[in-house]
Amino acid sequence: MSDSDKYPADSGRRRFVKGVVGGAALAGVGTTGAAAINTATSSSGHGGGSTQAYAIENTAGPAPRGMPQIPIEIDSDGFIKGVWPDVQTVTQNGVEVSLALVDDYKGTGVTYSQDWFQYCGVQSYEGLAPDFESDNYFRSDSGKYDWQRDAYSSGDKLNIADFDDYTEWGNDIGQSGLGKPATGTWRSQDVENVIPIQVLRSKRIEEAAKDNEWLAASTDKGVIAWLNKCTHFCCVPGYKQSSDAAKFNAEDGVYCQCHQSVYDPFSIVQTLFTALPRPEE
Ligand code: FES
Repeated sequence: MSDSDKYPADSGRRRFVKGVVGGAALAGVGTTGAAAINTATSSSGHGGGSTQAYAIENTAGPAPRGMPQIPIEIDSDGFIKGVWPDVQTVTQNGVEVSLALVDDYKGTGVTYSQDWFQYCGVQSYEGLAPDFESDNYFRSDSGKYDWQRDAYSSGDKLNIADFDDYTEWGNDIGQSGLGKPATGTWRSQDVENVIPIQVLRSKRIEEAAKDNEWLAASTDKGVIAWLNKCTHFCCVPGYKQSSDAAKFNAEDGVYCQCHQSVYDPFSIVQTLFTALPRPEE
């Protein structure tokens, strides 16, 4: 039985397809966070404040905005890493602070900084310290997918070669062939607080990157990654991880089981929010 037999197109599917990365989605700046923008940094600490990030779009449920993208690179041996910008000293609110930040990411004009990830307590994680020593590779966690548990032990670096079947992969949740996912960790070796990430290799991303400057700079070979912390109450959502997702038209998206927020990993938008400061060291 083909996938289209098993999963006939419905209105939810069509809506999802329309959400494929494109000019319209990328041009839009999410306004959900706008009300909070000028509150600046109210508690003491470093960094934070009004931040514009690229994110996988939040399309349903109570989450206030998308989950931030992590720009990636693939090394010559195929291992996938999340880019961590160089550390700079910048003046914020009259105070000099160290911040991992690049003003013009790979010539895109985008300011990419650690502020993108400063919410849900992640701002105090060891891996968010600007100068935390890490090779920045994505490493497998215990694995949320059968293929991942077969291919990797926890802590193994994710490699593009293991995503070769990305145009066919499926797992009986939603439509097969949209992309191949894995879950993992970033900048979290030998520390208490683990930064959860999700990667997805998809033809849709590969195609969209051909005529989108930001995606061309922040993805490679169809691989996109994001910080996997729901912006609602900080649960860890999943792409094709829950059969419940279908009840919320989220079988082909990223679904948070806690309160049914849905994210579309094929629709990358700019989102504006107030990043929390890192605690004083
Ligand atoms: S929807 Fe509430 S934590 Fe994700």
